[in-house]
Amino acid sequence: MANRQIGLTETVLRDAGQSLIATRLPYDKMEPILETMDKVGYYSVECWGGATFDVCLRYLNEDPWERLRKLREKMPNTKLQMLMRGQNILGYKHYPDDVVRRFVRASVRNGIDIIRIFDAMNDLTNIKVAVDETLKCGAMASGTISYTTSPVHTLEAYVKMAKELEAMGVSTICIKDMAGIMLPQDAYSLVASIKDAVDLPVILHTHCTTGMAFMTYLKAVEAGVDVVDTAISPFSGGTSQPASETMAEALKGLGYEVNVDLPLMYEMADYFKGVRGEFIADGTLNPISLTTDTQGLVHQVPGGMLSNLLSQLKMMNAEDKFEEALKEVPRVRKDMGYPPLVTPTSQIVGTQAVSNVLAGERYKNVGAEIKGYCRGEYGATPAPIDPEVMKKVLGDEQPIQGRYADTLPADAYEKAAAELGDTARCEEDVLSYIAFPQVAESFFKARKEAEERCVSYSITKVEE
Ligand code: CO
Repeated sequence: MANRQIGLTETVLRDAGQSLIATRLPYDKMEPILETMDKVGYYSVECWGGATFDVCLRYLNEDPWERLRKLREKMPNTKLQMLMRGQNILGYKHYPDDVVRRFVRASVRNGIDIIRIFDAMNDLTNIKVAVDETLKCGAMASGTISYTTSPVHTLEAYVKMAKELEAMGVSTICIKDMAGIMLPQDAYSLVASIKDAVDLPVILHTHCTTGMAFMTYLKAVEAGVDVVDTAISPFSGGTSQPASETMAEALKGLGYEVNVDLPLMYEMADYFKGVRGEFIADGTLNPISLTTDTQGLVHQVPGGMLSNLLSQLKMMNAEDKFEEALKEVPRVRKDMGYPPLVTPTSQIVGTQAVSNVLAGERYKNVGAEIKGYCRGEYGATPAPIDPEVMKKVLGDEQPIQGRYADTLPADAYEKAAAELGDTARCEEDVLSYIAFPQVAESFFKARKEAEERCVSYSITKVEE
């Protein structure tokens, strides 16, 4: 057991920031520490994808592609990793295959080495195109299992999924416990069974939300896990990952080989303490998100979903319905065939639960998303949707047979490029526009205006 090598994936630039400060870390605040980070010896640095793309364009006035190129330049020795929602790419609906393939190619071209690809429903037909293109580009595809608990999410079901991913040709298998609800003994049996069944490195991703994570990682390591996701200490704990230095020290102490430079990690920690201070001062970092919240263990609801439920109810002046809505979530989830609760299924189930409670009658009001879900626009459900609920939601309409992406118009890219005309300067611009049309448009407009200001400024200077 000892002497076995364990890798660490550093999440401070993506998941830790997404979990604690709503992804508001601008590139300028990362830059001073990137060269240090590059020398630590991480298995990989997760730094792109997930919500970073949207937030760059929407709130930080940054071109996400440019950020990626800068990260690549500053970290030439480290594998750069992104998180991708399979056929959803980085958005909330499915895209046609051509767009998925173009997005993967552009990501690799701009600097990504590893793409972690998951589907909220664990419908593997929704990740196979992204996996295929990633491998074609010579990058690593980490086939991901979204972890949840339900009567249909058995050990056998997970092992079957791992085998299917292996058959798909993935480079590694990642188990993603987005809600931080995986118990240590479940991590042990799950990792041991998957390691037994497939001949690939296994990676575990969890969150500290419920306080399990360090124990869960340790049992996973004992069971043979190869890599765990951690965040440098100032951005660790709470809704984020376990601390990188702590995990490294503990594992080294136990005799595992962890090839990281601890003094450099402590340097990183010092740097990020300063950054954290700024986000606490301006209110972006809520200290509560750094604490332990065991509600996930009771309700099997991810932390982010709880705050979404509460804010939806607040908007309707119905905060007193919170407990009721919380109880409704698992019932809606059961009706929907037990989807794992992760973007976008967490929003779909959460919104319907709130609507059921507010209307005082279940499925009296049904939104476009839940209709799309029942139609099959998000993929196959882990268990069948309750037939009566299905009828209430869809009426006489029949669900889609087969893969939703196959029903989408194949010329989405060409159409978007034509719509943009001269505004798009490269394929990356078109892809940003396809992913987030309005947000990308206002970003392009601001970019142009800033450039025009620069030009007139330099002309004035010349004339002086
Ligand atoms: Co996560």
